[in-house]
Amino acid sequence: MKKWFFWILAIGLLFAVNAGWQHLAVADCTDTYENFGKAFMEQYCTRCHASTKTGFARFGAPAGYDFDKPEGIAKEKKEILEWTVEKKKMPPVGKKPTDAELSKLTSWLNCEYP
Ligand code: HEC
Repeated sequence: MKKWFFWILAIGLLFAVNAGWQHLAVADCTDTYENFGKAFMEQYCTRCHASTKTGFARFGAPAGYDFDKPEGIAKEKKEILEWTVEKKKMPPVGKKPTDAELSKLTSWLNCEYP
């Protein structure tokens, strides 16, 4: 094998590894309930899903699905991801979360409640 060919391979490999690391850095667990989740839930969910709300004030949100406390969120992590990120059914009315917010929601839930 010619020497220059080896060097091109080596440099290419370095770039590839570097890109891989950058990808991992994005998935870093920097989003928490305190710095992201609380505000997200208050903006999009707790109007209906809150332990302080009963009856008509829940606008039909099922009992027990309360996202005004971290425990309530942790308990329903899988369903929150399914209904909000996958099916995009929640919130059912009003402004929907942006794609950027949905990806933050996913990484936060997976990081804080693995
Ligand atoms: C305007 C009121 C309202 C808002 C805001 C809202 N929901 Fe809901 N949610 C509902 C209603 C009503 C249902 C029942 C829907 C159904 O069964 O088809 C529901 C059902 C759900 C369920 C499924 C519960 C089950 O029976 O399995 C989940 C999970 C959920 N919501 C999560 C969220 C999340 C997360 C947010 C914020 C991103 C949110 N919701 C915002 C009203 C709301």
